[in-house]
Amino acid sequence: MSDLLTLRRPDDWHLHLRDGAALAAVLPHTARQFARAIVMPNLKPPVTTTRLAGEYRDRILAARPAGSDFQPLMTLYLTDNTPPSEVDTAAASGFVAGFKMYPAGATTNSDSGVTDLRRTDAVLARMAELGVVLQVHGEVTHDHVDVFDREQRFIDDILGPLVERHPRLRVVFEHITTSAAADFVRGARDGIAATITPQHLLHNRNDLFRGGIRPHFYCLPVLKTQQDRLALVEAATSGDPRFFLGTDSAPHARHTKENDCGCAGMYSAHAALELYAEVFEDAGALHRLEGFASHFGPDFYRLPRNPGTVTLARREWSPPAAYPMGGSDVVVPMRAGGKLRWQLVEA
Ligand code: NCD
Ligand code: ZN
Repeated sequence: MSDLLTLRRPDDWHLHLRDGAALAAVLPHTARQFARAIVMPNLKPPVTTTRLAGEYRDRILAARPAGSDFQPLMTLYLTDNTPPSEVDTAAASGFVAGFKMYPAGATTNSDSGVTDLRRTDAVLARMAELGVVLQVHGEVTHDHVDVFDREQRFIDDILGPLVERHPRLRVVFEHITTSAAADFVRGARDGIAATITPQHLLHNRNDLFRGGIRPHFYCLPVLKTQQDRLALVEAATSGDPRFFLGTDSAPHARHTKENDCGCAGMYSAHAALELYAEVFEDAGALHRLEGFASHFGPDFYRLPRNPGTVTLARREWSPPAAYPMGGSDVVVPMRAGGKLRWQLVEA
């Protein structure tokens, strides 16, 4: 078995970079591994316009490590009040890759999210006309729906009808967590794809409660059952181009997760490819990692695949207990203090 694995340079199709000192602290991790990333707009206040996205993009470009050619692909935060004309402005900008739909209250900084998707139908119609992608956080938020059932309910009540109502709209069902979601994407019309995170491929919901409550395994959508996890591994490693890489790496300062109301989000940017490589290797599908990481995303977004390559070496290493996150804040990364089997070779 080879000890080196070389892939076309990959991209991250779902990422949280934050802003200010946190942005400067976490961006080098992503820029080392990925050529481009879809940057989530859930700042406070959210990135709702092309103008705000352009300003955020400038701050990201300015925070890049010296010599980095990393390119942020911006998204706009869809609200009940987004005017259809914003789609034209976004498409003309050349730097906006899509609109992100958060159901109001679904996750971190989603209070301005959409309360009823039908209110956005005119915007979605314009997106379909211009070929602008919709990125969806696929969970209903009703209190009476069990937190583990929220993705399935979203498919039945919202997403299924939505893709029929807008038959030409291109949709990425982000960070899918269930076998139901994988089945939905496989059975959907053309123009529907999904991203899958490392945590949902590596962990099930037992890991949230292993010997006690584990806040660093809490993300949204929440980890699901072992059966769901295995269905996601099957989808990711099958070579089906509708499933591609999106880490949802979501840094939160340690004290905000180790808290009586801990934030949702797991941090994987420091070792994203290495984590995915373990999943693909254990599934006997290391030869399919490149499609998932480097081909299917740009193909869906109608962008060129990256020139250049990255190399992973089979070499054990341990992520630290925490990384700096600006000021006195630190972020606890996935596999902190544990072992990883693969390591990205520095260029
Ligand atoms: C994300 C965050 O922290 O911004 N958290 C998460 O658990 N994934 C928000 C999100 O994408 O849901
Ligand atoms: Zn996210």
